[in-house]
Amino acid sequence: MDLGLKGKKAIITGATRGIGRRIADILAAEGCDIAICARKPEEVEEAVTALKAHGTKVLGSVVNVKDAEPYKAWLVETAEKLGGCDIFIPNVSAGGGMDGEKNWYRNFEIDLMGAVRGCEALMPALKESGHGSIVFIGTTAAVETFMAPMAYNALKAALITYAKQLSQVTFRRNIRVNVVSPGPIIFEGGSWEQIKASQPQIYESTLAQQPSGRMGEPEEVARCVVFLASPAASWVTGTNLIVDGGMTKRVQF
Ligand SMILES: NC(=O)c1ccc[n+]([C@@H]2O[C@H](COP(=O)([O-])OP(=O)(O)OC[C@H]3O[C@@H](n4cnc5c(N)ncnc54)[C@H](OP(=O)(O)O)[C@@H]3O)[C@@H](O)[C@H]2O)c1
Repeated sequence: MDLGLKGKKAIITGATRGIGRRIADILAAEGCDIAICARKPEEVEEAVTALKAHGTKVLGSVVNVKDAEPYKAWLVETAEKLGGCDIFIPNVSAGGGMDGEKNWYRNFEIDLMGAVRGCEALMPALKESGHGSIVFIGTTAAVETFMAPMAYNALKAALITYAKQLSQVTFRRNIRVNVVSPGPIIFEGGSWEQIKASQPQIYESTLAQQPSGRMGEPEEVARCVVFLASPAASWVTGTNLIVDGGMTKRVQF
């Protein structure tokens, strides 16, 4: 199946490792020009060099999504440099944690407002595209109780509601909005690798909840994100795709 991605322009935030990195890699392999950002300059440089191997245009910048004005300016400038923006994937998260109000503000600014501000800044370019597509990265911890009450879980849930409502107004301009909600995903340098080393009981009990007996991998999420981002998913909008190897127990109507 041709995903129709050749020549499309995509912006992915937080793509030096994990799920975002695999999304960027697959999009570039499918022929997209891409732009990524993260906070560590050496990791941005490494990612850009590796992603360029696919032969498309790759832009990388050091940007902290939490800094609203520079973040929005980077998005607008990047869409200009790419010659447009067809696909926007706000992938950055402040992660989980139970550090009181600090976590609520961090997850609000980064997980929620990082996506909202990004959509607003890129809306003119996405309208111009004619095949605009936004994919938010949620989590199964937003749709089923998991681990502990956390700002991360609740604010990712807010993102899912926002995506659905946004999708209702943007499809008139042919912009689709979807969410992919992964279950636990393990990779080098990621949160589950850290949990495995520092809190093995939590890791083992989470592993025991997996019907397959293993954790998911970034590739398995990224392929779903790329499909939803692509013109091949032209009739899919407002959905929240659970990608968890069957870990969640709810019946999804
Ligand atoms: N891993 C999982 O088990 C899992 C499960 C469900 C959902 N998710 C979601 O999937 C998405 C990706 O998570 P991940 O675990 O694959 O990767 P991650 O370890 O959270 O890192 C993702 C990327 O974001 C960058 N980043 C982090 N904070 C940033 C900031 N404030 N500004 C700009 N860049 C920033 C990181 O680079 P720097 O550190 O250099 O900035 C890195 O490139 C997140 O939305 C997460 O909530 C993950």
